[in-house]
Amino acid sequence: MEEANPTRAAEADERQTYVLRLRADNDRHAMETGRRRRAFFLTFGCQQNEADSEKLAGMAQQMGYDITRTPEDADLITVNTCAVREHAEQKALSTVGQYKHLKAKNPDLVIAMCGCMVSQPHRVEEIKHRYPYVDFVFGTGSLHRFPQLLCERREKNKRLYCPEEPSLTVAEGIPVRRESDYRAWVSIMYGCNNFCSYCIVPYVRGRERSREPERIIEEVRELVADGYRDITLLGQNVNSYGKGTRAGWDFADLLAALDRIDGDFRLRFMTSHPKDASRKLIDVMASSRHVAHQFHLPLQSGSDAVLARMNRRYDTARYLETLDYLREKIPDVTVTTDIIVGFPGETDEDFAGTLAMLERARYDMIFSFIYSPRKGTPAAEMADQVPDEIRHARFDRLLALQNRIGLEKNQSLVGVPMRVLCDGPSKNNPALMSGRTDGNKIAFFEGNPDDAGTYVLFRANRADAFALWGERIPE
Ligand code: SAH
Ligand code: SF4
Ligand code: F3S
Repeated sequence: MEEANPTRAAEADERQTYVLRLRADNDRHAMETGRRRRAFFLTFGCQQNEADSEKLAGMAQQMGYDITRTPEDADLITVNTCAVREHAEQKALSTVGQYKHLKAKNPDLVIAMCGCMVSQPHRVEEIKHRYPYVDFVFGTGSLHRFPQLLCERREKNKRLYCPEEPSLTVAEGIPVRRESDYRAWVSIMYGCNNFCSYCIVPYVRGRERSREPERIIEEVRELVADGYRDITLLGQNVNSYGKGTRAGWDFADLLAALDRIDGDFRLRFMTSHPKDASRKLIDVMASSRHVAHQFHLPLQSGSDAVLARMNRRYDTARYLETLDYLREKIPDVTVTTDIIVGFPGETDEDFAGTLAMLERARYDMIFSFIYSPRKGTPAAEMADQVPDEIRHARFDRLLALQNRIGLEKNQSLVGVPMRVLCDGPSKNNPALMSGRTDGNKIAFFEGNPDDAGTYVLFRANRADAFALWGERIPE
């Protein structure tokens, strides 16, 4: 497709020359050895990273690699990292450590690291000095440079560290190798301007950039035509979509336009920021044909004092106003949230506020996290870091409360017929099929593995806090 931005067009051409160069080398290798080179991708972090890895795999395929699911037989290993909590970083580093010995067996092996963790200068330094077997490193803003870096690494035998590029626009036209043929991610905006005081994302993903709506509409249209049933629009702050686009649309406008596409499919989106969850957006959802009745609305804390120190720019009253409007317009909506426990200075009273909000909001599910100080963020410098044992005790209380609420919510769905998009045999119990309801709840039922990727009608006869168990019923 024609690229409207001349710099981006030149970049795409340049990318293509590296793709072709490496492809020639890979084809030659396959001819000589009778074996094609293989690429393995390991992804940590959120859906944004999953979506990025699908682009990296798309580029790798273009360059003549086969994709493998096992690092042991790979000739290229790429670890796409997350930086949101210390644990995510440590896991990525220890996994890369385990790949070191693979180089002894396969001297041809190239190991790359990319993503949010290595978008931080101190982590790049650490890899330079302590992980000499990592061949090249590139940050989130340099995703499109993958072919160039790989090509240069193979040709010059020199380790490479791609400097972070403050991306102002969005690279289009990168091929995508999707993991599923009926569920798809579509990134609609990148980066974040919010600077919540605990969060590393704005530092590692840069400022907000939105794709032009025509590009998004075209991509979704193609996905629907290709039989995709469940399409999730992605962005760190998906509902502040639209800044800087020529069209001047907001997220509600985009959603309304996508809803006009004909076909049997569901649209989801994440992650929304409560400050941008407008009535206009909720109205569009309520009157839509395709938008799933699901809303992920991260609260983070139920204390107004903590919310202010987190720089969240809403208070509990405003949050509840949005939630009440959402439930009034879409009574069967599934609502989920993120909670951080142990933010610096969080008192027993603040934490009691979070528990009270859980009782009031009655979430279907929560994703809860123990606060993890992130280097370079304001919260990491705040006094009154909460001691570990208090953080853990609060975390346990939070989970216990949510388990009760989640169970009650799910039990209320027992007996109600629901459409479920079947994912095929469950990983833990292959005798049962698993699937997702419109509200994105997990459903287990007896069925046919061939139903994967199709909608079935389901009725639950049992529920726990995390899933529904039941049976297929006739349409
Ligand atoms: N852009 C999204 C997701 C950000 S990361 C949003 O704004 O909601 C996903 C979740 O990780 C956040 O919602 C928050 O609950 C949690 N998180 C972010 N930084 C954290 C930190 N330093 N410690 C613990 N949890 C954190
Ligand atoms: Fe992080 Fe806040 Fe941006 Fe979410 S909105 S990515 S929590 S800074
Ligand atoms: Fe992690 Fe980066 Fe996502 S820090 S949560 S992978 S945006």
